[in-house]
Amino acid sequence: MNATAELEIDIHAPAYVRNPALLAWVAEMAALTKPERVYWCDGSDQEYSRLCQQLVDAGTFRKLNPVKRPNSFLACSDPGDVARVEDRTYICSANKENAGPTNNWIAPAQMRGILQHGQPDGTVALFDGCMRGRTMYVVPFSMGPLGSHISHIGIELSDSPYVAVNMKIMTRTGKAVYDVLGVDGTFVPCMHSVGAPLLAGQADVKWPCNKTKYIVHYPETREIWSFGSGYGGNALLGKKCFALRIASNMGRAAAEGSGGSPGWLAEHMLVLGVTNPQGKKYHVAAAFPSACGKTNFSMLVPPSGFEGWKVTTIGDDIAWIKPGADGRLYAINPEAGYFGVAPGTNQSTNPNCMASLDHNVIFTNVALTDDGDVWWEGLEKDSKSIPAHLIDWQGKDWTPEIARATGVDGKPRPAAHPNARFTVAATNNPALDSAWDDPAGVPIDAFIFGGRRSTTVPLITEARNWVEGVYMAATMGSETTAAAAGQQGIVRRDPFAMLPFMGYNMSDYFQHWLTLGEKLAASGARLPKIYTANWFRKGADGKFVWPGYGENMRVLKWMIERIEGTGNGHDHAFGISPNYRDLNWTGLDFTSEQFHTVTSIDTVAWQAELKLHSDLFQQLAYHLPKELQETKTRIETRLAA
Ligand code: GTP
Ligand code: SPV
Ligand code: MN
Repeated sequence: MNATAELEIDIHAPAYVRNPALLAWVAEMAALTKPERVYWCDGSDQEYSRLCQQLVDAGTFRKLNPVKRPNSFLACSDPGDVARVEDRTYICSANKENAGPTNNWIAPAQMRGILQHGQPDGTVALFDGCMRGRTMYVVPFSMGPLGSHISHIGIELSDSPYVAVNMKIMTRTGKAVYDVLGVDGTFVPCMHSVGAPLLAGQADVKWPCNKTKYIVHYPETREIWSFGSGYGGNALLGKKCFALRIASNMGRAAAEGSGGSPGWLAEHMLVLGVTNPQGKKYHVAAAFPSACGKTNFSMLVPPSGFEGWKVTTIGDDIAWIKPGADGRLYAINPEAGYFGVAPGTNQSTNPNCMASLDHNVIFTNVALTDDGDVWWEGLEKDSKSIPAHLIDWQGKDWTPEIARATGVDGKPRPAAHPNARFTVAATNNPALDSAWDDPAGVPIDAFIFGGRRSTTVPLITEARNWVEGVYMAATMGSETTAAAAGQQGIVRRDPFAMLPFMGYNMSDYFQHWLTLGEKLAASGARLPKIYTANWFRKGADGKFVWPGYGENMRVLKWMIERIEGTGNGHDHAFGISPNYRDLNWTGLDFTSEQFHTVTSIDTVAWQAELKLHSDLFQQLAYHLPKELQETKTRIETRLAA
């Protein structure tokens, strides 16, 4: 770093921050990035209001109609900064093998040159002076209940007040974090800059960002460095960067040799509670890739025909899962809020979510109505009409006519960006589980893995054992969505819905799951059942055949019955699936022909699918557990029979 000649920045740390390592790091980062000032967030509601007003004054936020949407705001991003950037995301482990073939990798020393120290050819480091003219916000947060033995602390330094207010909703933040951190506690340093320094007198833009983006993780030193983006998982570093990429490393590092601790799991999973009419409660953790239904499933409202059933939310996106003393797996939600997809959300698909969004919400990239409220595609189902006029997410006039005239592929131009999101506190959710904040977590009875597949993959399959379940999770495919920059609707392998979030070698991760299962089984524990689901099969008309959303309860009930030992099904090449008669159809008109369309197993399509599994295994050959190869051979043999 070449900052010694520069003016020392007084970091003005409050007296309650007593951790010398933290103070030294903030001073070092301030010297590197050269912000105009350093502001220590206290996490209070007053501070939140003040920063939101500041964002309104700067034009980043628009305050929504206080009668329709109290204390809520709309932010519209730069059109080049609307989703996670997977091709700019790096796992900079000391050895390339430890990042594995599914991650981008650059040697740590080289990456530190790019970001931090400057390059041999004299190129200035991206973070050098990147906060000039801005405020550096210091955001302390706990992933998981404050003080829980499962939780971990992070400190995000960011030059984005938008990030600071989002972190207030998404995490447990505030002064209390410093009490837990104390003098010698450890934290994950999360360095974030939008990469848009301001010269003296230079006017700011509404959504500062940089065309050059880097989302970087150093697993050995457990550091995160994010440059150039202000959006979602690129910038709210507690979420994917910490709670998945860094935490997956922590969970595996906690595993000790044979017979020792199995370690723990950091997963891209919702966690829900489901209570049957007899009052018996189960907990289910489900991994679906980005924009494939986690938030919706976690808030499911049982349909008619399911009176007496209740679903409650523990988490909607990420789970940290640890074995308890009884050998069962306990899950906590490391987050405290939801950063959820707006389009498609309405009263019929997700009434609990709609209720959550009625006050204290930050919306990003949705459309603005003429009466100062928000709108997105899908809401026309509630109002039975499309608004005559809106301001779209890019600030342009939008009418149904304009949308038709400027659409692509015969589809009208959407008013909200397809990856438009809401940020809202978990406590806004009427279906929030009473144990959502329990430091001990909730015991998991079943795992579900599910992709978005218009063909091939049946509605629901139960794995016959842990290894078969791990196989199905490891080989899962899904069509890409707007949650990440790049082409959409392309089927790719997305193992465990973790492809973009895996912090180490994917094959080692498969082994971690297998070993964890082995160790728990050896301790005499009953392992959770593992299911694979697909809500997204399409018919000849190109429409989803399965009604999804609340109707997914029909499948969930079958899973519970299987756990109870009362549910029936038939055995096939890769597991057990229900027959038409095995599901409860009360209250839904769904014929056995339709059921066939969403459950049929086409041998030819599956042979092609297994070829894709082979391709994946070839890519992941280094350290690939032999049990997975063996399982594939068994499935192939059975399919050919
Ligand atoms: P991330 O926050 O990106 O991790 O997404 P997620 O997995 O939480 O997905 P979410 O629940 O936000 O749903 C994404 C999109 O899929 C929304 O447009 C939903 O309306 C749609 N969706 C969710 N569940 C279902 C379902 O059961 N069937 C169908 N057809 N669509 C669904
Ligand atoms: C995802 O993409 O899976 C999300 C949204 O949950 S983001 O926070 O942007 O990663
Ligand atoms: Mn997600």
